[in-house]
Amino acid sequence: MNKKTVTTILDKKCKSEKITMLTCYDYVMAKLISYQDIDMLLVGDSLGNVKLGYENTLPVTIDDMIYHTKSVKRGNAGALLVTDMPFMSYESNIEEAVKNAGRIIKEGGAEAVKIEGGVEIEEQVKAIVNAKIPVVGHLGLTPQAINKFGGFKVQGRTQEAHDKLISDAKAIENAGAFAITLEAIPEHLAKEVTEVLNIPTIGIGAGRYCDGQVLVVDDMIGMFDDFTPKFVKKYANVSQIIKTAVKEYIEEVREGKFPKEENTYK
Ligand code: KIV
Repeated sequence: MNKKTVTTILDKKCKSEKITMLTCYDYVMAKLISYQDIDMLLVGDSLGNVKLGYENTLPVTIDDMIYHTKSVKRGNAGALLVTDMPFMSYESNIEEAVKNAGRIIKEGGAEAVKIEGGVEIEEQVKAIVNAKIPVVGHLGLTPQAINKFGGFKVQGRTQEAHDKLISDAKAIENAGAFAITLEAIPEHLAKEVTEVLNIPTIGIGAGRYCDGQVLVVDDMIGMFDDFTPKFVKKYANVSQIIKTAVKEYIEEVREGKFPKEENTYK
């Protein structure tokens, strides 16, 4: 499997080839996904929702992110491995942001970090990039700002929000990010951002014109069904397969049909 790097991702924008990315939180899934030749794996702080059962991503810690990154790293065949910086691991000061990004790379084995926000975190992005750590930005519906937004709502709909998103995207590009994730914004806005930037945009609920797409893997395989946003396409119904298998196992054990002779040692 060809190793994907930051250069691979930048080249794809130049060649107008779509970039593929999925979230991933453990070794088994990393093997399953990366051997299909995906470009990027994201250890998203969405693991707070889909793996740890929190209501949102806010309680996720830097140690949670490092733990899951290590697991993904062991199963990754060659995708570029990106890990989210969790809430309050970069906002309060630049030194703290660089230190935590460094831990994600050094202890977790990620190759880049993703960080939510616009002009307000420009200096953090610059400092992390100066520390030789590649950065992916994240704009639009940034889940760590859930309390500010008052819920999971589409962003960038007013003229003011539209203009702010464009200037945030330029600021994050100028600060040195090599890609930007755009979440839950109108398609025309994502198209405009994609056209004004030299670095690739990776959309989630941002329409068809981004340079690449990302989804939460548990959503797209139908594993996590507490809530499914409109922008998700379910490519499988894994939760149903698991429920059926577990039900059959319970019945067979109760009825003495499992284990059979072939499942026993002589
Ligand atoms: O945490 C995450 O999974 C993300 C994606 C939604 C892009 O940031």
